[in-house]
Amino acid sequence: MASNVPLSLFLCFFISICHAHAGKISVYWGQNGGEGTLAETCATGNYQFVNIAFLPTFGNGQSPMINLAGHCDPYSNACTGLSSDIESCQARGIKVILSIGGGAGSYYLNSTEDAREVATYLWDNFLGGKSANRPLGKAVLDGIDFDIEGGTNLYWDDLARYLSNYGKRGKKVYLTAAPQCPFPDYYVGKALETGLFDYVWVQFYNNPPCQYSSGMASLEKAWKDWNTVPAGQIFLGLPASPQAAGSGFVPAGDLTSQVLPEIKDSGKYGGVMLWSKYYDTGYSSSIKSHV
Ligand SMILES: *[C@@H]1O[C@H](CO)[C@@H](O)[C@H](O)[C@H]1NC(C)=O
Repeated sequence: MASNVPLSLFLCFFISICHAHAGKISVYWGQNGGEGTLAETCATGNYQFVNIAFLPTFGNGQSPMINLAGHCDPYSNACTGLSSDIESCQARGIKVILSIGGGAGSYYLNSTEDAREVATYLWDNFLGGKSANRPLGKAVLDGIDFDIEGGTNLYWDDLARYLSNYGKRGKKVYLTAAPQCPFPDYYVGKALETGLFDYVWVQFYNNPPCQYSSGMASLEKAWKDWNTVPAGQIFLGLPASPQAAGSGFVPAGDLTSQVLPEIKDSGKYGGVMLWSKYYDTGYSSSIKSHV
């Protein structure tokens, strides 16, 4: 990837359409059986990251359990068929990430040791390790997304360190997070300070103080704060339709004419995250050439 940057900058001098700052779109998939398959999601060509949502049950000694709504039944081990979809996404260059937590989960870590055990579980069951009962089958996911919105704010930094260390021994484990836009984030703020996160999709919705509806100044202030986090890239997280969230939807025209021009020049701008595939009935298509 790194070598593409100078090339694209170079080409900018000769080609009228300059995409040196082209961002990416990250989407959540998994919480509505009516949103199409994972393979179909990737085949749209609109996304560079797909977060499989969610692993909502883990930690404190609980048996970890995924929940993919109407897509498949994990209790009868019926989600293993997703492996071929995951691999078809990866063959397109799309990173497929398991999102842990979510808005309605039952999760927290009770100690550093618990964080280590959860990291080992994730490595063996979803990443480069081995287990007889991998919930999504043999496909090796690209990383883990911390969508921590409940429980406690403890030991997430430990979980990030353990996961990152596994990634040094085998295939890299991308770490991503989905904090709320009020800065800093209560749940994952400390984990982000580890500097181990590659991508942070900040939820600029359901958060009136920092979302676009409160004015560009509020959004820009939060965006600047988020750009101080020692992470690879920051994404603007948005609902894919007005129905996708309680508040925070930004019409595509406003996004491309008002919001993106103000944030794209910041050093850590990575693109846009959308919640979720189910609600994305045209939004990503209308914004993708502007992201
Ligand atoms: C903490 O979690 C571990 C699993 O890592 C569990 O075995 C233990 O019972 C839990 N401890 C408490 C005090 O709940």
